[in-house]
Amino acid sequence: MEKNIDGEILNVPRHVAVILDGNGRWAKKRLMPRNYGHKAGAQAVEQACEDIYNLGVQYFTVYAFSTENWKRSVEEVTGIMNLLRNYLVNSIERSNKNNMRVRVIGDRTALALDIVDAIRKLEDATKQNTGLNFTIALNYGGRDELRRAMTAIAKEVKEGSAELTDITEDFISAHLDTAELPDPDLLIRTSGEERISNFLPWQIAYSEFYFTPVLWPDFKRADFVEAIRYYNKRDRRYGGVK
Ligand code: FPP
Repeated sequence: MEKNIDGEILNVPRHVAVILDGNGRWAKKRLMPRNYGHKAGAQAVEQACEDIYNLGVQYFTVYAFSTENWKRSVEEVTGIMNLLRNYLVNSIERSNKNNMRVRVIGDRTALALDIVDAIRKLEDATKQNTGLNFTIALNYGGRDELRRAMTAIAKEVKEGSAELTDITEDFISAHLDTAELPDPDLLIRTSGEERISNFLPWQIAYSEFYFTPVLWPDFKRADFVEAIRYYNKRDRRYGGVK
């Protein structure tokens, strides 16, 4: 979608995915505990939902907690889970006011039951909204998502509801947690790391990547505009010739 952003006509990506990184370092710089950084990170996510939608983005997906993040200290994991719990429980009204539809991707089987319940309620309460599609990756790992999809497909074949010839790329996409989402056009990772860390490996096959040293809690509207400018300089060919 072409949009006039601060006097500049830019092609705005439909789906932006972000690997939120740098909360810990942001807190450390302030001599504060890591969970202080996560709290600031969660506030930055809420602000980002508004900013990014006003910029014309329709899908926004964030990596909040990976299948590997359980290895962090109990204190940190508990802190992040409490933040997510609060977000899920308290954001129904705000999401509806902003016409925002919220989804959660990842494996729910390892999550606390009240969190699973809060996810279901929030998804349900916002499913009629037609504004920003905001997706939270929670206990998400790309290989784990592919494993779960493969198990589901194998089961269908075994039970006879699918044939081997049904297994096209679209069929596989439809069995991923992201079945309802278009693939990301732009993937952002903050805080200077330049890794994918198991985030949406199938879905980002043709995405543009934007890496920035800015720590996530400091990432503001102007940084999104910079990322979109960078995206506009790329020439997306999807392997073909233009
Ligand atoms: C990365 O920073 C951040 C995380 C692993 C957790 C992020 C989670 C949130 C901000 C909560 C999400 C909130 C909502 C509302 C969806 P890091 O700890 O790896 O930072 P570091 O690399 O500087 O240590």
